[in-house]
Amino acid sequence: MSAATARACANIALVKYWGKRPGVLNLPAAGSISLTLGALVTETTVTFDSKLERDELSLDGERADARRTSEFLDLVRDLAKTHTRARIVTHNKFPTASGLASSASGFAALALAATRAAGVAIQPRALTRLARRGSGSAARSIYGGFVRMHAGDRDEDAYAEPITSPLLDRVRMVIAIVGGGVAKSHGSRDAMEHVAATSPLYAGWLAAVPPDLRTVEAALASGKLEKLGAVVEANALAMHASAIAARPAVIYWQPATLALLAAVRTLRGNGRAAWATIDAGPHVKVLTTVDDADHVARALAGVEGVTATTVSAPGEGAELVH
Ligand code: PMV
Repeated sequence: MSAATARACANIALVKYWGKRPGVLNLPAAGSISLTLGALVTETTVTFDSKLERDELSLDGERADARRTSEFLDLVRDLAKTHTRARIVTHNKFPTASGLASSASGFAALALAATRAAGVAIQPRALTRLARRGSGSAARSIYGGFVRMHAGDRDEDAYAEPITSPLLDRVRMVIAIVGGGVAKSHGSRDAMEHVAATSPLYAGWLAAVPPDLRTVEAALASGKLEKLGAVVEANALAMHASAIAARPAVIYWQPATLALLAAVRTLRGNGRAAWATIDAGPHVKVLTTVDDADHVARALAGVEGVTATTVSAPGEGAELVH
């Protein structure tokens, strides 16, 4: 038996990944940029055991469907040239009932723990490509802080890498949970394919990504927070516009989501640093500063329909625990 435990943080995209290219390699249709969040951690232990007949997954103490995990482990078994099955025990140390997606931190922690347990020597860049096969956003959780994901034309070119920025010590993310974290209606994986196939606005979304990536990279390099924030909010709204225009529509927003967007505008109008972003669910994440984070969190907690708020600092990259 050989075992390893790894920890990884979730990340929130500042320029979203929304759409894939065809094929099994899970190549994104465009690049993306994210911030890894220290408050959202997944810890995963992988134990390869020759006595097991199939992979077994335990998620937060409950037996769970291992299909997607097992498919991912097949990639690691191919690299290690083994057929041995594994026991995977994973815990999400997320704010209670957050309903936040854990696939990014989950597959990043799994990629690191599984390769270590299987004895596969792998460089960080290759590890990001492996994590991408589990979930596109997981590649970015291999690194801490700001991270860029390259769309790439081939498997080798679709990898993630860290971006240094003078803004890293200044930023915080406030997560406002809407509706107590009930299960979301459309998983991102199927939803992005449906939107790409049916939304008349999808082409417009894809065209918006390259200039948004360039503006965000420039803002991160020069430390211009207002410039960064404006694109972060606009990019997320463009992604959701493409989803809302799909046939049938993919609408993630609840009334409280819109109320939060309005509250963020009011905060900005009052001189606070606050820019919203939304993923495949009703929750709103607000990019802010160390100085404004508590004020922003209090204001958002007062919005009707918000059941919890969490302030997160940037987090570290994936690491082995033992
Ligand atoms: O990696 P996935 O399949 O969980 O997709 C992530 C999709 C978004 O969260 C909406 C955007 C992103 O870039 O994280």
